[in-house]
Amino acid sequence: MIGVLVALTGPEETDVVRRLDAPGSGTRVVRRCADVPEVLAAAVAGLGELAVLAADLPGVDRPAVTGLRAAGVDCILVAAPEELERCAALGATEVVTSTDALVAAVLDRTVRGRGSGGAPDGHGTGDAPSAAPPGGGTVHATGARARERPDPEPDGAVGTEVGTPGRASPPPVDSPLAVPDVRPPGRLVAVWGPPGAPGRTTVAVSLAAELALLGRSALLVDADTEAPSVTQTLGLLDDSSAVAAVARHASHGRLDAPTLLSLCPRVEPGMRVLTGLTRADRWRELPAAALDVLWEVAREIADVTVVDLGPGLDEAAGADQTYGPRRHQAATSALGAADVVVVVGSGEPVGMRRLVMALGQLTEAGVQPPERVVVVNRLRASAAGPAPDEAVQEALARFGGVTDAVIVPDDRPATDRALLQGRTLAEVAPSSAARLALEQLARRLAGESRPRPRARFGLLRMARSR
Ligand SMILES: Nc1ncnc2c1ncn2[C@@H]1O[C@H](COP(=O)(O)OP(=O)(O)O)[C@@H](O)[C@H]1O
Ligand SMILES: [Mg+2]
Repeated sequence: MIGVLVALTGPEETDVVRRLDAPGSGTRVVRRCADVPEVLAAAVAGLGELAVLAADLPGVDRPAVTGLRAAGVDCILVAAPEELERCAALGATEVVTSTDALVAAVLDRTVRGRGSGGAPDGHGTGDAPSAAPPGGGTVHATGARARERPDPEPDGAVGTEVGTPGRASPPPVDSPLAVPDVRPPGRLVAVWGPPGAPGRTTVAVSLAAELALLGRSALLVDADTEAPSVTQTLGLLDDSSAVAAVARHASHGRLDAPTLLSLCPRVEPGMRVLTGLTRADRWRELPAAALDVLWEVAREIADVTVVDLGPGLDEAAGADQTYGPRRHQAATSALGAADVVVVVGSGEPVGMRRLVMALGQLTEAGVQPPERVVVVNRLRASAAGPAPDEAVQEALARFGGVTDAVIVPDDRPATDRALLQGRTLAEVAPSSAARLALEQLARRLAGESRPRPRARFGLLRMARSR
């Protein structure tokens, strides 16, 4: 017997409930809900295994569907035909356009059993397995949205910064971010690190700028929900939050490449920026379920997406997990999706201790990126001893198991100049020691150089080669 949570609008609700409750149907309506919060509460309480929702009910969005799936409840949406495509991007197991199709889809599950239904993953990209054979008015949500090519003539695009994505017109020469016909998915680099301002934003901004200078299309995303600062660092206006706007589009199944391009202006040739939250208390506007979509779409429009994150990290989901939004959900989402996690620590005793603890925290939180790079920033003999490189490498090897940390020297004059002018290190201090170290790291991420065995040798080599 499948327990069904029902939240439908309109007169058909009674008819659907009657048919699902009919003797021998194999289903039972366990709760007729008035709104989405009631459905979520019932799901978390373990009352049902399947929710059927009217797509036009307020609050039916990707985070809600993800929340249901995290609670082990599959979801079927009933949508107007013109909403079918949008709703298919919300991550539901199925989307149907009529009550007959709805009842058929639910009853079909009793025949096949739950084994073939959408398994909750709680943190996926919404790629639910299809759950019923194709039928009239039914769409199986298979995550097709992320693989769709952008509309050649985006009608939702705003602003003048947009390239002209699409097949009809070739990308302009100065617009490496314009969407070509075929491109391999871009990489996602998440820049994270412990509290204490070790230089996460400086590293993230520099990496994006250097990657653009290396000819890669780079998208810099400010997803720091504690102290976002990319706008100030680059001297941009911060009167609105583009990342929140993008997350809203994603929550409602409306984020595609042209829309993303329209919201991230180009600040340098080859480098776009998605500005961050204007206030930390808006963190709820960046739900993981929406950001998961952002990373996918970002891979479509940029060779490399660099994400600047705050220091917070949620504990791994455990038995005491609540189903509400988690404070550091943005970081969890980015770190979980990243191809490379850059962990930035500060090269003095307090910073090093925090860095070692942060590395342990990452492991405990279950973050296991394909590649991890540890950066020791702001290294200086006055705070780390007469042989600072050796001291930090030894400490990291001993306490953090890290043998290949990248060293970025303390370079106050250069970083101050960059901050003061709202420009990048490459622009204001191209031969500064900090810039050269970050340029080298960008080359490594771009696959243009081999990782250095020990950072100090690399720095010497770099200095000689300039
Ligand atoms: N290599 C460096 N040398 C000197 N100062 C630096 C360096 N990297 C960053 N800073 C400075 O440290 C401060 C904090 O950097 P920021 O990138 O905003 O940290 P976070 O994002 O970790 O909070 C800024 O004033 C920045 O200019
Ligand atoms: Mg920062």
